[in-house]
Amino acid sequence: MNNFITLKLKITLVLFLCVLTTFAQQEKAGYAIIPQPVKLIPAAGNFEWTTATKLLLAENSESLAPALTELKATFALLKQGKTAANTVTLGLDPSIANEGYTLSVEKNAIVIKAATIQGAFWAVTSLKQLMGTAILRRKQVLQKSLLSAIAIPCVKIEDAPHFSWRGIHLDVSRHFFDLAYLRTMIDRMSYYKFNKFHLHLTDDQGWRIEIKKYPELTSKGAWREMNGQDSSCIALAKTNPDYAIPEKHFKMIDGKKMYGGFYTQDEMRGLIAYADSKGIEIIPEIDMPGHMMAATNLMPWLTSHGKGGQAKDFSEPLCPCKETTFEFAENVFTEIAALFPSKYIHLGADEVEKSSWKNVLECEALMKKEGLKSVDELQSYFVRRMERFFNSKGKKLIGWDEILDGGVSPTATMMYWRTWVPTAPKHAAEKGNDVIMTPGEFCYFDAQQDGGSLQKVYSFDPYKFNISESEKKFVIGVQANIWTEYIPSERRLEYMVFPRMLAMAEVAWFKGGVDWNNFENRVQKHFSLLDAMNINYRLPDLDGFTTQSVFVDKGTLHINKPLAGLTIRYTTDGTLPTLQSKIFNGDLTITKPVEFKVAGFRPNGNRGDIYTINYVHQDYIKPVQLSSPAKGLKFSYYPRFYKTVNAIDEKDLTNEGISAAIEIPVAKTAESFATRHKGYFYAEETGIYSFALRSDDGSVLKLGDKVFIDSDGMHTSIEKSAEIALEKGYHPFELMFLEGGGGYTLKLQYKTPSGKLKDVDASVFFH
Ligand code: ACM
Repeated sequence: MNNFITLKLKITLVLFLCVLTTFAQQEKAGYAIIPQPVKLIPAAGNFEWTTATKLLLAENSESLAPALTELKATFALLKQGKTAANTVTLGLDPSIANEGYTLSVEKNAIVIKAATIQGAFWAVTSLKQLMGTAILRRKQVLQKSLLSAIAIPCVKIEDAPHFSWRGIHLDVSRHFFDLAYLRTMIDRMSYYKFNKFHLHLTDDQGWRIEIKKYPELTSKGAWREMNGQDSSCIALAKTNPDYAIPEKHFKMIDGKKMYGGFYTQDEMRGLIAYADSKGIEIIPEIDMPGHMMAATNLMPWLTSHGKGGQAKDFSEPLCPCKETTFEFAENVFTEIAALFPSKYIHLGADEVEKSSWKNVLECEALMKKEGLKSVDELQSYFVRRMERFFNSKGKKLIGWDEILDGGVSPTATMMYWRTWVPTAPKHAAEKGNDVIMTPGEFCYFDAQQDGGSLQKVYSFDPYKFNISESEKKFVIGVQANIWTEYIPSERRLEYMVFPRMLAMAEVAWFKGGVDWNNFENRVQKHFSLLDAMNINYRLPDLDGFTTQSVFVDKGTLHINKPLAGLTIRYTTDGTLPTLQSKIFNGDLTITKPVEFKVAGFRPNGNRGDIYTINYVHQDYIKPVQLSSPAKGLKFSYYPRFYKTVNAIDEKDLTNEGISAAIEIPVAKTAESFATRHKGYFYAEETGIYSFALRSDDGSVLKLGDKVFIDSDGMHTSIEKSAEIALEKGYHPFELMFLEGGGGYTLKLQYKTPSGKLKDVDASVFFH
């Protein structure tokens, strides 16, 4: 946090450009702090601002002075004083945990205590959240007389983070994000008490950090013509402009329009200092020996076969059997180690095409010399040698969990991502390696979202992965990873990150005893804060309808608004809803087949997801007659990988039985498998039933012998819903499900004609 010190000198009462658009409409955020403080005792009343309110640094608290900078920015018009009747005081308390703080707000005194600058800093962050939207809107200059309109509710908070690593990772290689936007990201991370910003600076698609020894890495390696992922984004931009690749990242090079960008070392130093002033450390990742195409296209001699480009599954990796490789890597990391003050450097080491090292003379010779038995051990040789080099520069190595392959030194830190290798965290912790938890299932924010994604992140338990009580101390934290193959713009990035980042903030800081409903209520309040920060967050889902709807005589389209201030607009001519489309003002009666396209619009005009609601006419499906149906469904289990349910082969069947409802009654499922639940669904009354099927990976539901919900194929957790008109009685039912690997979800809910959505249970299934 050295730069706090330099900032300390700049006690500039820079006018804090905040705002109160209408003070009369002042919103009070109450105690909706995210992440939830460990202990919060509410009290009556608000802090009472006066024109004489002063900032105080308590005696013997000079070491916290840098945090005063942030307080001064927050209370731009307050003068620092020595004594006053009405004060905001910052004081040192060495008994408080690292990064912890206490915050007391009384009617005429706000007191912050901390042992470290970071702790004091996070106290200011909590205070800012208590102040609500007023200090976030940056359109008007705050006038002192208006301070009184900012209600800070009285409270006592004692707080400290659970994890010391609370990270956000951003891939700036696949798509480039400029320095101005990285600063914005840092502001937002800091607002939610994240403290590590992991920059994935190099990959096959572009090299983003200046290396003075190899200028071509950025003069050429940072620029590309459109690749396949760019073309997909351009195609998607036709219906969603957030997929458009910003013009500002194109440049003419040798007569060709090239896409890209990079950071000079000076620029990066500026960013590091800015992050530091916001309580955040930047961790650089230069991904080796795989994911190196941006470099190997320029220096093909670094690979085993003297060519860059794509190999079997991944790109041609650096050859770990040539001294030229280590010369290159050490030259790069010498500059990286000097540039980044973090004690960590991330070596990557994921997804390496190790088959490229087979039958290579240099590798055979090295393996013989070093007694290495496999290409996995060659990878381990590379990682260990790089780790010794990092250590010689006073740095610690982090690698993705592939660093375990072939053995890892106990001083390396492992970043866990491959959910389909659930034993990896335990293997690392058993050996005494620190572990940072970023399992794909919960932490990959490039995965598409739907209405269940926020809760999914909130349900993340970083200790779940076979970690014993005594091994928990090796789990130093959690991180959300943002891979940007299909995230070309800042708006798209914000859509993917918010509000999921709020759930990750709470997992990282404190979740003990806090339930989902409590969190969701606070998130509702934070939407107005996100609006005030002008963040293009994903709106909560519109609901109350089914996308595949049916009517027999006539139907009613009902839509619930998830957020106050939202306007719902719709079209029926196939076009996408715009600000000019009709407003949905209440239930609509359906008497003929129609397709609606519906979206919510925020007051600033930002549009949420577009929902297509299709109404078709249907007659009630007749039931089948069963003489003596037994309870439950026939369950079949196939422990094999299939890409689609049609591929399920009865020859692979290993287990059969009866399941009460939609359960998988297998003691230990295989990594990849398929299941079938077959029997009858009992419709208790004649009417329209609605089903919602959530699965990760694919699933297909047949009802009345027809495919009714098709969610087939390999995908993350998504929900699909549909309606069906059923006559009272038994209807043939079949649910097929696929798990490709990496953790599964299978959940079926339904709504009776007169009931509410609920989980299916044993009462409705027969065979
Ligand atoms: C990774 O997602 N390849 C670490």
